[in-house]
Parts: sequence; structure tokens; C-alpha cells
Amino acid sequence: MDAVQEPLGLVAEETLDPPDWADVQALSHQVIDDAVDYLRDIRDRPVWREMPADVREAFAAPLPRSPAPLDAVYGEVSRTVMSYPMGNIHPRFWSWYMGSSNFTGALGDFLAAIQGSNLGGGNHAAGLMDGQVVNWCKEMLGFPASAGGTLVSGGSMANIIGLTVARNVKAGIDVREHGVAAIEKPLRFYGSDQIHSCHRKAMEALGLGNRALRRIPTDAGLRIDIAALRAAISEDRAAGFKPACVIGTAGTVNTGAIDDLQALARLAHEEGLWFHIDGCIGALIAIAPENAHRVAGIEWADSVALDPHKWLHAPFEVGCALVRDAAAHRRTFAVTPEYLESTPRGLASGEWLHDYGLQTSRGFRALKVWMALKEHGVEKFGRLIDQNIAQAFYLAGLIEAEPLLELAALPTINIACFRYQPGLAGEALKALNTEIMLRLQEQGIAALSDTTVHGEHWLRVAITNHRTRRTDLDLLVRETVRLGHEIAPQGAASS
Ligand SMILES: Cc1ncc(COP(=O)(O)O)c(C=O)c1O
Repeated sequence: MDAVQEPLGLVAEETLDPPDWADVQALSHQVIDDAVDYLRDIRDRPVWREMPADVREAFAAPLPRSPAPLDAVYGEVSRTVMSYPMGNIHPRFWSWYMGSSNFTGALGDFLAAIQGSNLGGGNHAAGLMDGQVVNWCKEMLGFPASAGGTLVSGGSMANIIGLTVARNVKAGIDVREHGVAAIEKPLRFYGSDQIHSCHRKAMEALGLGNRALRRIPTDAGLRIDIAALRAAISEDRAAGFKPACVIGTAGTVNTGAIDDLQALARLAHEEGLWFHIDGCIGALIAIAPENAHRVAGIEWADSVALDPHKWLHAPFEVGCALVRDAAAHRRTFAVTPEYLESTPRGLASGEWLHDYGLQTSRGFRALKVWMALKEHGVEKFGRLIDQNIAQAFYLAGLIEAEPLLELAALPTINIACFRYQPGLAGEALKALNTEIMLRLQEQGIAALSDTTVHGEHWLRVAITNHRTRRTDLDLLVRETVRLGHEIAPQGAASS
């Protein structure tokens, strides 16, 4: 065939690829070297620090219209983003509930982006790996291989997936076609008063409304009160509601309490309810040899949300929803528009993974999880979970041994709540502890968060961190007491 002649006078076509790959190669080597140093030396840097004005201002810069050399772009990223991180990969970060990431996972994210596949589906290796990681999640939790599942952005989305299937299965009508307004009796979902806030958002997004989620009181250990749950269900039935789903929490965000999952599974079975478990914190305890017994019954759930970006330390984001009834899972989300039909062979002969959730285009989240699991093996991740739980008990011991510190309760898993207590109460005590928490952050010592348990304010340490050592917890206790001494006169004065 004759070569197609380019018409004379046409401008050269453009691409985002570099004119000289050798330049990019050199810079990429630098980026990797810097990244390795960054993680190797993480312990020597402050956990967190406030950004100076010029760094903040950098993020108000207007849309760039002309090009800049890549090394200058990278230089700016180093000066701003890389220098002022949230800090959750630091050994002394214990705020809210994060994972601490890992280098192999970061390489996975990089390679996933280089390879560039869209995990909406199709017949390609990344699609198969996505399914494989979901299967590994089932195996870790003791879920049957026949169950359905999908990787999503995180725990909140994983909960939405499970709760959407629950709603559709229990609605008694075709909700997808007719909408929630056509449901005959208003649906009721149940969870404890410690349930994570993402369930409220889920109820709202599902069109059921926040009030459709009844918060059931908890016992002294902050676990759902099963008798109160039973009473609420029969009260709702009598009042014309349709009890549809009970949400058990395996690891509450406030204190790590684990609901009695076996009792909930039995109750859900007897009452004909869907049993969903929010296992964003605790589902993976199933792989931890010393603590797996705490989540016994998780394998009985109809659906579970778990979070590999927490205790598998995958770089953000990756969550996973598992649904025992794979067909019900697919029925809840599958749509086949004319432009996404399957073919008997070729690229469109693979599974359409977008049929299991709300996204059409999906990132290649599996690779970062897959590579780290291959490198370390699942047993190491289980041991790291045991290690974090043992560290929380170690911290609790240190707190109990320090007269000026007060422990809220013995931890259940990896979360400990405590406060500095020089004899204050109420708002003065809260102000003092808040100030300690802020100074710990601002001085780059440690990142804690705070919460309210049984109406009392506490500092909260959640150790989901493979870099934490016991000496970090020794330091935390020492520094908390030091700061308490430093601030306490002001705290006492304001009481
Ligand atoms: C119990 C619980 N459920 C759900 C979530 C939400 O998970 P994500 O932040 O991954 O969306 C969290 C987050 O910490 C959690 O602790």
C-alpha cells in the first residue's frame, strides 16, 4: 500500500509524550530516589506541621496556560505537597482512622497508572486481577467463593453498596424501576448508636432518609443492645414499618467496640432481615491469629464492607464490598446500554465490573493490594493487626500507671481513649485536653484526635500503623504529661 502523503503545510500533531524520553527517565529516577528517602526517613520528620503562607498561596495560583519544564513542576510539588503531608504514614499518627500506606502499594499505584487500564470491565489482565483481589478478600473473611463483591473507593462506598442491595432485596417491589416512593411500607434499618456517620449519608442517598436508620442503644461496652434491638423491631412492625436490615459494626470508630456478630446473625435470620456488617475497621481482624475470635460470625453476614486502605495499609483509596448473594448484587446495579454490550471474543468478552457498583469508569485499585499481599503474604498482615492491638493494650497500661492520665476503658482492639486529668471537669477539662492535642500536632510530636464517649470528652489514639513502635507510645505518654503540666494552670484558671 502506498504511504499516505501528509498534506504540505499542516502543523505537526501534538502529544503529551515527552520529546525526549531520556530526560523523563532521568527525572523519574530522581523521583523514585526521593520517594525512597522520604519513606526511609519518615520517623525523623515531624508528624505534621502548619503550612507557611507562601505554601498556601501556591494553591491559589491561576490555571497554567503556558508550559513549564517537568523538573520545575516536580520541584514545586516537593516544596509544597510533599513537604506538608497529612502525616498518616508517620509512626506517630493515630488520628481518626487511617492506614499508614506502604512503598510496594505506591509502586502498584504508579504501575496501575502507567498501564492505564479502565476497570469498568473488559477482557484484560487488570480486570482479572480486580476479581482476584475481591476473591482474596472473601477468603480472608471466610466468605464463600460464590459470593459477589467489588472494589470501591473506601469503606463509605462499600457500605453504600451493601445497603443498596439490602434495600432492593427487601423492598418488596422493583425499586430500580419504581423508586422508593412506591415501597408499600417504609423500610427500617437498624444499627447501634455508635454507628459510623457514613450510614447516615447512605440512608440519605438511598432515598430512605436518616430517620429510616434507627439507632439502638449500646451496653456498657458500647456494643449494640440485642434486647433493645428486638424490641425496636417489633415496635416498628406494630407501627406499620417494614424492618429490612440490621447493620452490625465490627469495630466502632469511637472505641473499636465489636457488636455480637453471631447474635446479630441469628436475630437477622429469625426476623427475616438482611444482615450487613460494617467491618471497615475490624473485618480484617479475621486474619489476625490472636484476635480473629473477636469477629467470629462475620462470615455469616449477607454483606460486609471492609477497607484495605486501613489494616492492609494500601495507599488511599480502596475499599471492598462483599455480598453473599452474587446474583442479588448484580441485579442491583447491572445496566447494559447499547454501547457496552458484551462480545463472544475480544476486548468486550470480559466481565463488566461496572455492573457491581455505581461507577462506570473505575481505577485499577487491585494492583497495590495484590503486590503488597504477594510480597509479604497475608500472615504478616495478620501479625501486624495483632501487633497494633497489643500496642493499644500496652498504651492502656502506660496510661493506667500514670496518675495524671485517665483511661476511658480498656481497649477492645486498637483504639484507646484517655485524657489528662489534673482534677478538672466539664468544659475546662475538654479545653485543656484539646490544647494538649493541638500542641502535640503543632509541635510535630504525635497526631491524635478526640471524641465524646458516654457524654465525656476524650483524646483518642487509633493505632492502625505498621510503623508504630512501643517507644512511640512511651513518648506520647511523656509528652502528654509534659504538655499537661505546661498548660494546666491556664486550664485550672478557666474552670
Ligand atoms: C466503622 C467505619 N465505617 C466506615 C468508615 C468509612 O470508611 P472510609 O473512610 O474508607 O470511607 C470508617 C472510617 O474510618 C469507619 O471507621
